[in-house]
Amino acid sequence: MAIDLEHRQLIVRPRRLRRNANIRGLVRETRVTLDDLIMPVFITVGKNKKHEISSMPGIYQWSLDKVGHHIADLMNAGITRVILFGIPGEKDATGSDSYNENGIIQQAIRFLRKNFPDLYIITDVCMCEYTDHGHCGIIHENDVHNDTTLGYLEKQALSHAAAGVDMVAPSGMMDGAIETIRLALDEYDFENIPIMSYAVKYASSYYGPFREAAESAPQFGDRQAYQMDPANVREGLKEAELDIAEGADIIMVKPALAYLDVIARVKEMTSLPVACYNVSGEYSMIKAAAAKGWIDGTKVMLETLTSMKRAGADIILTYFALEAAKFLK
Ligand code: PBG
Ligand code: ZN
Repeated sequence: MAIDLEHRQLIVRPRRLRRNANIRGLVRETRVTLDDLIMPVFITVGKNKKHEISSMPGIYQWSLDKVGHHIADLMNAGITRVILFGIPGEKDATGSDSYNENGIIQQAIRFLRKNFPDLYIITDVCMCEYTDHGHCGIIHENDVHNDTTLGYLEKQALSHAAAGVDMVAPSGMMDGAIETIRLALDEYDFENIPIMSYAVKYASSYYGPFREAAESAPQFGDRQAYQMDPANVREGLKEAELDIAEGADIIMVKPALAYLDVIARVKEMTSLPVACYNVSGEYSMIKAAAAKGWIDGTKVMLETLTSMKRAGADIILTYFALEAAKFLK
């Protein structure tokens, strides 16, 4: 039987709720807000440095004497949470700058704590920016030795806490890292410092530009023996479960854009806040295509951030934070 198109009575018309911006705003399900975003900041040794990362236009390595301007810009834009990454003067086999009380990050924490009392300071806790081999832990027989590395992560987290950090974020995918750091913080009366675990972190090629930014590319091999296989999602739930049991306060999925399904699955299985890391490669791809005029960079940025919230992320770590802030409340 043919449908009589002209006399068809449509009862349900979804388009009624899309007719103008006003009604669309009323029924919008997902919003990205200033409170959702954390800006990564790269701090380097030396003076008078504002060095742009060639693969991440608009993102810089800052020396401590200059980073204040950048932090002030962030605060004025309503971005009040940062995650710090350090580029030390010297790298060695055990990444000793990472747990030195006068290391680059410890100096940065003290400087920012003093000058920006309202800034929420998070630190990445990992060895790869500080080791001469570029791996996320201590090497024994060409392999990152898990349990030896735990002792170093503990020292690193404690040194950040002593310098005044607000939250630590272990990113190295070492088994038992959350429990080790939680026990150490508690023992030294830092029981109020939360841990955001990079719990579900994949061995991803989307980290390429970050490794230029942090000067942390592995000098041999790759990270597949500790970061996760991109093909696996149930293994990600196992990683999240373990870190929750070990005392994590926030669970992160990383990268974000190619892993929205993982974000959604993790969100279903925990009542903890879920963070995702909109990583360097995701940033660079949008920047590169926008520079060529192939996409509208601003619109794609906002759509991308929205997709992460829609997937279930409560928190987004993103290099777009400052740029996106203009459009957010
Ligand atoms: C350090 C670390 C990395 C990122 C955050 N912390 C790099 C890596 O694991 O190689 C990646 C962030 C990005 O690509 O933006 N372990
Ligand atoms: Zn690392």
